[in-house]
Amino acid sequence: MPYRTGRIVAQAQPNIALVKYWGKRDLERNLPATGSLSVTLDALWTRMAVEFDPSAKADSLAVGGREAPDLLPRVVRCLDMVAGSDRPRARIESESNFPVGAGLASSAAAFAALVVAASRAAGVSLDTLSLARLAGRQSGSAARSLFEGVVALDPGPDDVRVESIAARGDWPLEVLVAITDRNAKPIGSTEAMRRCAETSPFYRYWVDRQGADLEAARRAVAARDFEALGAVAEQNCLKMHSLMWTSRPPIVYWNDATVGCMQAVRELAADGCPVFFTIDAGPQVKAVTLPHEAARVREALGSVPGVLEILHSGLGPGARLLESR
Ligand code: DP6
Repeated sequence: MPYRTGRIVAQAQPNIALVKYWGKRDLERNLPATGSLSVTLDALWTRMAVEFDPSAKADSLAVGGREAPDLLPRVVRCLDMVAGSDRPRARIESESNFPVGAGLASSAAAFAALVVAASRAAGVSLDTLSLARLAGRQSGSAARSLFEGVVALDPGPDDVRVESIAARGDWPLEVLVAITDRNAKPIGSTEAMRRCAETSPFYRYWVDRQGADLEAARRAVAARDFEALGAVAEQNCLKMHSLMWTSRPPIVYWNDATVGCMQAVRELAADGCPVFFTIDAGPQVKAVTLPHEAARVREALGSVPGVLEILHSGLGPGARLLESR
C-alpha cells in the first residue's frame, strides 16, 4: 500500500441518538440488532492524528496528551481493518474538547475520525459508507458520525446502511448538554448492552418495536415535525433505560441531577416550549430544542441542582480530514 509519511489529522463530532442503538445481532462484526437515528453535533469534536513510522516497533496511543495503552487494542484493530495488519506501526494521538468516556459519545467521534485519518495515511480510498461500516466495527454509533445533520442507520440484511436524512442547515435543531458528572461511566455500553440482552425481560420487545420507532422518527424529520420527533425520542430513550433498570444486576446511569433535568425539560414542554430530552449510557441529559428557545432551556437546566456545566451545540458536519501536519 502507498503509505504516507507525516501526520494525518481528521476530526469528527459526536452524535446523539434520538432512536437508540442498544443491542447487537452479530458480536463478531459488531452489527446492531436494530436501526437508529441521530443528530451529529458541531460544537464538540475529537481529532485523531495518525502517523505511520516504519522504524517504530509497536503502535502507541495518547489520549489528551497522556499515553493510553488500555485503549490501544481497539484502536489497533481499527487501524488493521483500514490499513491491513502488515502496515507500518503507527503513533496515534487523540484530543477532544469535551469529557471522554462519560456518556457523550466520545468513542463514536474517535472512531469516525480514526477511519478517516487512517485511510488517508494508508493511501486507501473508500467512500463514506465504507468508512462508516469500518468505524461501526469498533463502535456501532461511530458509523453515524461520518454523516452530517440528522442521520439514519438501517441495520440492512448484511451490513448497515447509513445516510444523512437532513443536512445540518435543513433543520436548525439545537442541543444543550447538561453535564452532571465528569467521571467515566461505571459500565461501558458494550457490556451494558450484553447484560440487557441476556437478562432484561423486555429486550425482545425492544428489538421488535425499534422499526416502528424509527419509521415514526423518519416521518417526523421529513415533515420537520418537532413535537412528533420529541415524542418518539423521549419514549425511545426511556424504553432503553427501562431495559437497563430491569437487567440483573440493574444498570443505572442516572443521578439526582439527571432526573432533575428531565423534570425541568418536562416542565418547559408543559409550558409550550419546544423541547425534549434524551439520555445515553451516562448521567448527562441532552435537551433538543429550536434556536429561539435555546436560552430559556439553558437557563432552566442551569438552575437544576447538580448541573456542573452546559454545552450548547447546533448540528454539524460528518467526519473529515483536517490539513495534514
Ligand atoms: C446509548 O456505539 O458505544 O449511545 O458498539 O458496543 O461500542 P459499541 O456501543 P456504542 O453504543 C452507543 C449506545 C448509545 C445509543 C446510541 O448512540 O445509539
